[in-house]
Amino acid sequence: MGKLIVNTKVKKSKINRNIYGHFSEHLGRCIYNGIYVGENSEIPNVNGMRTDVVEALKHIRVPVLRWPGGCFADEYHWKDGVGPKNSRKKMINTNWGGVVEDNSFGTHEFLEFCRQVGCEPYINGNCGSGTVQEMSEWVEYMTFDGQSPMTEWRKQNGREEPWKVKYFGVGNETWGCGGNMRPEHYLDLYRQYQSFLKNYGENKIFRIASGPSVGDYHWMKTMMEYAGKLMDGITLHYYTVPGEWKNKGSATKFTEQEYYITLKKALYMQELVENHSRIMNYYDPDHRVGLIVDEWGTWYDVEPGTNPGFLYQQNTMRDAIVAALSLNIFNQHSDRVVMANIAQMVNVLQSVILTEGEKMVLTPTYHVFDLYRAHQDATLVESFATGEMIGTEDAQVPNLNVSASVDDHNVLHVTAANLSADAAEPIECDLLGMKPNQVSARVLTGGAMDAYNDFDHPDTVKIQNFQSIETMENRLKFTMPACSVMEITVAE
Ligand code: AHR
Repeated sequence: MGKLIVNTKVKKSKINRNIYGHFSEHLGRCIYNGIYVGENSEIPNVNGMRTDVVEALKHIRVPVLRWPGGCFADEYHWKDGVGPKNSRKKMINTNWGGVVEDNSFGTHEFLEFCRQVGCEPYINGNCGSGTVQEMSEWVEYMTFDGQSPMTEWRKQNGREEPWKVKYFGVGNETWGCGGNMRPEHYLDLYRQYQSFLKNYGENKIFRIASGPSVGDYHWMKTMMEYAGKLMDGITLHYYTVPGEWKNKGSATKFTEQEYYITLKKALYMQELVENHSRIMNYYDPDHRVGLIVDEWGTWYDVEPGTNPGFLYQQNTMRDAIVAALSLNIFNQHSDRVVMANIAQMVNVLQSVILTEGEKMVLTPTYHVFDLYRAHQDATLVESFATGEMIGTEDAQVPNLNVSASVDDHNVLHVTAANLSADAAEPIECDLLGMKPNQVSARVLTGGAMDAYNDFDHPDTVKIQNFQSIETMENRLKFTMPACSVMEITVAE
């Protein structure tokens, strides 16, 4: 018998809606075909943006979207991506398959996509191969309302009003593809570049520094010590890779051992967030600077027969559990984590959507974002799970994982995952501080850890209403199916 304890009397941090953010890069079929098909496409679109994708993203209330990379960001020159499309410069996408990038999706198109989805833009500037002037002028081009060469150019390119752009990143993975820098070097570059990101009118830039890879605590310490006062956020990147980088493992064909290894590696996010937060707490005890996990998710070998540079992978119930664990961890640490961006939105790595021509399919990970959407901007309340350790000899994980929040209408939302590949779990959920008068629940399960949706079987894994909950004085009793994610809603 597993136990979940939820105490609505212990209110904690506000869960920033941006924890439910996404990431889109000029990589494989994420932007082209995934998001953007062009105005003349046969695929239904508005101003070139796929209508089916936009509608699906609106449903899960995507709050913020990062663009244009990733590694691509540090070789992207934004001026090549504005103006008449037929005169935009073409470039080679050196990081991702060496394909030609025709720059037909640029600043105007990205901001139009955000408008249609109803999310905030998060733009990642080029610090690795771009100049200070170039970065500074990008902000001026997008957000300045007065008279200047950049605003005149924007108007000539069809946009009279400035946009509101809050989130701006100074470089990506500057320890790796963004310049292979030492933290001591990037630190000074960060201080310099951010000085020229100006606030125009009402638009206030939220400055985001390129942070550590995984457990590089020296990077975090250096940045916080010498630039903490000049930033609003700092990034952390961590991917869940079941195998080695050269042999990561298949997205759909895996053993129980690989399943539990994947979950154990996903849970490492908790240790990373806590350790980096400790360093941040020392230099920023007031929690002014946010931790932004702007790349997270599973990374497997590409689907057989697809371009290795395109990072296209399928998505199973294993990915749904990874998403559930990760989002629970971010919720539970929302006193420091203010944004997270799953990598990536469409057709790349742990996508919420896959497309093929005019077809679209929603992945198990998409459905987890659906189950969790009520947490956005709600107040985290105390919750924990007491279950047992399960798995294989090398990969032991707790069988249950949970987070809970109370929204503005005093409605409680509990999200929980049963990690067991094959055992249903009877649960007692104790509710402290609340009488469960109205209870409803939804469950995501596919009948197997490797169940997935494809274009011929789009509903193998889908959300279902869950009726079998016994309600007592201060307790709910139910049985969670094996390898499942649930959302339980409770009102007094
Ligand atoms: O998401 C794919 C790549 O992973 C990104 O471009 C890069 O930032 C990271 O290494």
